[in-house]
Amino acid sequence: MNKNSVTIIDNKNNKKYNYPILEGKRGPDVVDMRSFFKDSGMFTYDPGFTSTASCKSQITFINGLEGELRYRGIKIDELATKHSYLEVCYLLLNSKLPNKDELENYDKELRHRAFLHRGLTNIFNAFPDNAHPMATLSAATTALATFYQEHLDDKDYITMANRLIAKMPTIAAFAYRHSLGIPFIEPNIDLSFSENFLYMMRAYPHGKLAPIKDVEIKALDTIFTLHADHEQNASTTVVRGVASTGAHPYVAISSGISALWGRAHGGANESVIAQLEMIGSVENVKKYIDKAKDPNDNFRLMGFGHRVYKNFDPRAKILKKLQDELRDELNLNSKLLEVARAIEEIALSDEYFIKRNLYPNIDFYTGIILTALKIPKSMFTPIFVIGRSVGWLSQWIEFKQDSSSKIARPRQLYIGD
Ligand code: ACO
Repeated sequence: MNKNSVTIIDNKNNKKYNYPILEGKRGPDVVDMRSFFKDSGMFTYDPGFTSTASCKSQITFINGLEGELRYRGIKIDELATKHSYLEVCYLLLNSKLPNKDELENYDKELRHRAFLHRGLTNIFNAFPDNAHPMATLSAATTALATFYQEHLDDKDYITMANRLIAKMPTIAAFAYRHSLGIPFIEPNIDLSFSENFLYMMRAYPHGKLAPIKDVEIKALDTIFTLHADHEQNASTTVVRGVASTGAHPYVAISSGISALWGRAHGGANESVIAQLEMIGSVENVKKYIDKAKDPNDNFRLMGFGHRVYKNFDPRAKILKKLQDELRDELNLNSKLLEVARAIEEIALSDEYFIKRNLYPNIDFYTGIILTALKIPKSMFTPIFVIGRSVGWLSQWIEFKQDSSSKIARPRQLYIGD
């Protein structure tokens, strides 16, 4: 018997099935169960994919017990503190950091690709003023597929990806400005990726814009980097699922945007601030902690818990440090900070949270920083989208280039009539 294998015994008939163990470079081994149904006539049951590896990947590595996150082998702390978001995009797509010339060319290319086709800008006007920017973002990204139909069969994946990465901040800013009924601001190609986004959010035609501070640009750039990829999370799984059907790549990304919107995923960043505002003051914190612990109450502390991180979320650690650094420079909302600190303190020492390994995740800290950048709550998740687009695109490309990729088509245990 091959030692590097797992044997399953069906106790009903004593039949034995043997499956090879696949060893990755790091992280848990994986049992290759692909032939299980053919061998046994049974399926495996794993709702929520808690024990299922759906692909092989070389992009992002997470060690949830050690709180470790790496993109293409490089630690997130190093990327977030020593490199720009554009360097991270280049790294995710090309498997290496750019040299000086490559970065200059990449930056130039993205600046020039930031503009939207005039036809696409009309789409925003079709939505009601109070449309949530996430819905508009998803619809506009799907609409982009009508302007770049060639990408359906095109093998120039990098151009396809760069085009979307460059346009996503413009789409997000237009969605926001439409929701306020104020004029769209075109991209300014003299500005860097992150500065241009803040400019498109804040400027008025012919108006005088207060200078955008370097600390603001750096903070937003770091937030983009921390969101750039996160291996097989819910929205990425959706993107790969749509990729598996052969649909247009921008439609796959649009589906990822829809999946990210939910409160259990990227939408948590908006819910964290809404929850902190609702709690209102330190005196009320205990009451809400008790609600979160009550098994008969479906209230959850937003920004706490994670499927993979069971020690700490390394992205949250970086953001907490950034929050402390920015506290005075950006005049962070001290009332919200006080409530957030009290929740953190009580939850981290409470048996309920300790037992379940519930720690603050990235979303717990982004809201307060984004509020200080004068970004409204409804734009928190669109900012996550801007950062994550490169991750979804890298995963989409990897899926297409993997000869073992198959259509995503799980099975079921039928319990109906
Ligand atoms: N507050 C209170 N209790 C919680 C919380 C929370 N935020 N999160 C999990 N729990 C409890 C559950 O009630 C459950 O308790 P039980 O064992 O007594 O039934 C236990 O912890 C395990 O929770 P699950 O929901 O089974 O864990 P899962 O891994 O499926 O879910 C998730 C992870 C969705 C992130 C969850 O922790 C959650 O809802 N958190 C709040 C929303 C949030 O912050 N989402 C952002 C995640 S990060 C991201 O997507 C960018």
